[in-house]
Amino acid sequence: MTDGHAGGAPTGPDDTTGPDETAGAGGTDRAGESGRAAGTGSEAPEFWEGFYRSRPQVFSGRVNPALARAARALRPGTALDLGAGEGGDTAWLAERGWTVTAVDISATALARVARRVGGFPVALERHDLAVTFPAGGFDLVSAQYLHSLDDAFPRAAILRRAASAVAPGGTLLVVGHGGLAPRGWGAPLRMPTADDVLVALALDPAAWEVERRESVERVSTGPDGAERSVPDEIVQARRR
Ligand SMILES: C[S@@+](CC[C@H](N)C(=O)[O-])C[C@H]1O[C@@H](n2cnc3c(N)ncnc32)[C@H](O)[C@@H]1O
Repeated sequence: MTDGHAGGAPTGPDDTTGPDETAGAGGTDRAGESGRAAGTGSEAPEFWEGFYRSRPQVFSGRVNPALARAARALRPGTALDLGAGEGGDTAWLAERGWTVTAVDISATALARVARRVGGFPVALERHDLAVTFPAGGFDLVSAQYLHSLDDAFPRAAILRRAASAVAPGGTLLVVGHGGLAPRGWGAPLRMPTADDVLVALALDPAAWEVERRESVERVSTGPDGAERSVPDEIVQARRR
């Protein structure tokens, strides 16, 4: 399996995203135009803006495998893509009939999502998820590699909020890097396992069925172009 995400080789220079982007057409910017989310004191908005502006295309643009596997088994409905990045998952879902809300902290990323999805019905919302969260309930809530280098990033709290946004009968899918993040090859990092995520989520067994909890190896291409196997930590649960 090749990488559909971080570390996937950029696919070419035809993405001409420039530094003067704003949240894409139809997008909202709830974190404010300044690039710093009000009240966080976090460097995250600047970090992720810089991350996306540093290259015209960062990710491969392919759908993430666990998301494709989960969604193929579901009837299309409403989906929330948390930390949507450049929209590989959002576009894949939209092309298959899902009505998607794509959320990211980076206006540049959201502008790339807008360009990627063309005429499909995709809502773009800019949030620092540490501060604000999209309204509503969704048939599928997906958080694919929603990580941050910021030690204060409240990932567990955001994932609990994500679970609360799943409509009855809907699915929560959380996929994270285990061990090494591909772009950070070098020093090993202690990343949450699928079991860690489940502990953090504290899903009520009466209300949730855990359908998948596992670590899956995936081949990823690193910054030097070399491939190696990296673990993905996958949690999928259905709200009863
Ligand atoms: C590693 S990337 C994953 C992108 C995409 N899900 C994928 O699989 O290719 C993490 C994404 O989360 C976003 N992100 C990080 N911190 C965030 C926050 N506090 N609020 C909203 N999005 C955030 C980043 O801008 C980035 O697009």
